Amino acid sequence: MVVSALFESPAVAKVLPTAVRQNVERWAEHVNVLLAVRNPAVVQQMAPSAIRGLFLRHGRRDEPTRMQASHEAYFDWSYKSDFPELLALYHKAKRMQWNAATDIDWTLNVEPLSPENPLLPHDFLAWDYLRGLGVRLTPAEERKFLYLAISWMLSQFLHGEQGALLASAQVTEAVPFTDGKFYGATQVMDEARHIEVFHRYLETKLNKCYQVNDNLFTIIDSLMHDARWDMKFLGMQIMVEGLALGAFSMLHKLTREPLLRQALRRIIHDEARHVNYGVLALRDLYTRQLSERERIEREDWAFEVSVLMRDRFLVHELYEEEFEGKISRRQWNGFIDACPGMSMFRTTMFSRLVPNLREIGLLTDRVLPHYERVGLSRFMQGRSTLGMEGDDYVDERAA
Ligand SMILES: [Fe+2]
Ligand SMILES: [Fe+2]
Repeated sequence: MVVSALFESPAVAKVLPTAVRQNVERWAEHVNVLLAVRNPAVVQQMAPSAIRGLFLRHGRRDEPTRMQASHEAYFDWSYKSDFPELLALYHKAKRMQWNAATDIDWTLNVEPLSPENPLLPHDFLAWDYLRGLGVRLTPAEERKFLYLAISWMLSQFLHGEQGALLASAQVTEAVPFTDGKFYGATQVMDEARHIEVFHRYLETKLNKCYQVNDNLFTIIDSLMHDARWDMKFLGMQIMVEGLALGAFSMLHKLTREPLLRQALRRIIHDEARHVNYGVLALRDLYTRQLSERERIEREDWAFEVSVLMRDRFLVHELYEEEFEGKISRRQWNGFIDACPGMSMFRTTMFSRLVPNLREIGLLTDRVLPHYERVGLSRFMQGRSTLGMEGDDYVDERAA
């Protein structure tokens, strides 16, 4: 924190033009994030993506992003079927396909600023904390803030879904078993449908879409460039999808907006299968086929990325749009940390992710002290998602 503290000091702030100071604050924060990663191998692996995502902000450009994929496509001309659980998941996925254009009632009217059927509950955000920073909002401004917050969240879901679409297509090419390729093909279709839903909702109902978050871009960039299919799998199916599933089910419980509830319910059923695919395929690989050195590398990577995901989704796109210049980034980060909605999200997300890491053999005695140190080991004994169905995540009592 020393670097950002230097740039936030009144003496330094006075001599820097505002725009420069804001950029320097941002960069200093990113440097601190990288310094906080204790494992040099993980830093080395993530660094090129962090430079593109955090410092150069490739995701914020008004042009498409081109990424060089380097994985190996794997053909099996024998078509042998030797993974019965994945074959069963494939058949199930075929039965459960749905049409985003007709199975959701798009005629429902959404009024984002109306107090009826609120998109998010009022106490999602820490209003008192914000007042403590000298920011006073009227009730109408508070409703607008909640609308922007849900728009930010759904925008990141949308961008994450695009990452999932491309990652699942890559894994379908690279995975070395036919049953996995069959199942993967259904996931590619699922992810396209999720993009269709979130994009249509944002564009036609909320009329607002944020650019991809720099940290999310960095993770996607890193997975796209990694040549190893199991790392794409670990990153996307276990970490990103695990967090998304937690976020979707949490939001389904919190929102009172009927169309969003319909859409999330459908998507949660698909995501439950995706996470199961990841757990089934990696449990087999990690517990039986990896060398110790390879497993240790994945244990360390999963731990560091878990911490980054917990600490770095700080809604900075909304800050830069509405609050930059009014409060500092550090004050904003404190506000986001204090929001009840954000801590609920974190709890829900890690209550599934950590048991899944245990299930695939990446929570060994060697790394457990790290999880204890950052307060994540309390999720260790929870239920993994293996065998859980969409309905297990959807709280019908809240309907
Ligand atoms: Fe998805
Ligand atoms: Fe997914």
